[in-house]
Amino acid sequence: MAKIEFIDALSIEEGARQAKELFEKTFGSAPAGVWDAPGRVNLIGEHTDYNNGLCLPIALPHRTFIALSPREDTKVRVISTLSDGIVAEADLDGLEAGGVEGWAAYPVGVAWAMRERGGFGDKVRGFDAAFSSCVPLGGGLSSSAAMTCSTALALDDVYGLGFGDTDEGRVTLVNMAITSENDMAGAATGGLDQSASMRCQAGKALLLDCNPELSALESVSQQEFDLDKLGLELLVLDTQAPHSLNDGQYAARRRVCEESAAALGVKSLRKPADRINALPQTERAVAVDALVSRLDSEEAQKRVRHVITEIGRVTEFVDAFKAGDIKRAGELFNESHNSLRDDYEVTVPQLDVAVDVARVNGAYGARMTGGGFGGSIIALVDKGQAALIAQKIADEFESRGWNAPRALAVVASNPAE
Ligand code: ADP
Ligand code: GAL
Repeated sequence: MAKIEFIDALSIEEGARQAKELFEKTFGSAPAGVWDAPGRVNLIGEHTDYNNGLCLPIALPHRTFIALSPREDTKVRVISTLSDGIVAEADLDGLEAGGVEGWAAYPVGVAWAMRERGGFGDKVRGFDAAFSSCVPLGGGLSSSAAMTCSTALALDDVYGLGFGDTDEGRVTLVNMAITSENDMAGAATGGLDQSASMRCQAGKALLLDCNPELSALESVSQQEFDLDKLGLELLVLDTQAPHSLNDGQYAARRRVCEESAAALGVKSLRKPADRINALPQTERAVAVDALVSRLDSEEAQKRVRHVITEIGRVTEFVDAFKAGDIKRAGELFNESHNSLRDDYEVTVPQLDVAVDVARVNGAYGARMTGGGFGGSIIALVDKGQAALIAQKIADEFESRGWNAPRALAVVASNPAE
């Protein structure tokens, strides 16, 4: 049986060195600076962000590095260690939404968002940039957010916008990164990934409240998340399952949630979620049944059931974890996955099998993380067990003839800087 591969995080020095070296080789001068931003894993609270709900991400030690220099004109040139030596070019002048093809849409879109949507057209001009990264691409660990957030912070710095220095200011950069992904790259995304990359802290999980009526300060609370101290480990495993249906399916889930909220006469599903999750545990199932019975289609009923119960699980997980009740925290991982599998229907066989193998091999709990349709799982396990369980999953995948998964050793890390 093939040995499971662990994707190591580049050290800050090595990642920065790679980006700087690529910049110098490509553009023939030293960059103005190097910035970096992490990928993320969401511990719990999946498909809740665009429902004004709660989620709980941590920043990965795996980061994307950007070496960047500002330009006098509006041109952009970008290269990545992953772009086969090809420099992508664009001009911000006259650029329209969706006007850049391929991966360059992500970084170019950030400058475009700052100019066209953020009102910083008089300050933000073009740039040259080189990227290096160790965040797995398309693994549901937000390599795209790591790219847009590192770009946003670099541009904020070289063009003196001053948003990167405070948590409140960072919310503006988060919004620029989201706009780039939505409107330039054409990738539907809520705010979870970019908020995680910009606002998570080392050793902490970010309890993110996506209710847009809250101020920056009110929207987050930093939760202690030191697994080592508890004798635990978090296994993150990229299943490498091809995710072909992602785009249309994500948008379809969002649409059903919006239509269901309208049918229930509320702005978002958050309101009924709060009402139901405030009830004693024993009364909630009946209340969820009563709520969803007001929706016509079985599809809508299932989607709404997931969102309402998932928002409740975030609060419960935070409380269980705080109380040191790891058994309950693990059960909540399992309940979350089962709900994403049965009600939200965003899992694929690789995610379900990886989670099952982790569970039968001693994980307290395991679940898919991110958008689904492929991507990664996480498992809460005793210290020293992550590699063993990852190997078991790899063996099972090999026997089924699936792509070999890859594992990441993860601790809660620092935000974009
Ligand atoms: P995820 O964000 O879960 O990793 P996405 O499909 O949303 O997956 O984003 C992955 C895309 O982001 C890649 O296909 C590529 O276009 C772009 N990307 C991210 N990181 C890099 C990088 N370091 N170099 C080039 N492109 C990147
Ligand atoms: C991701 C998306 C996030 C969030 C997540 C599911 O793909 O970018 O905004 O919705 O799926 O929780």
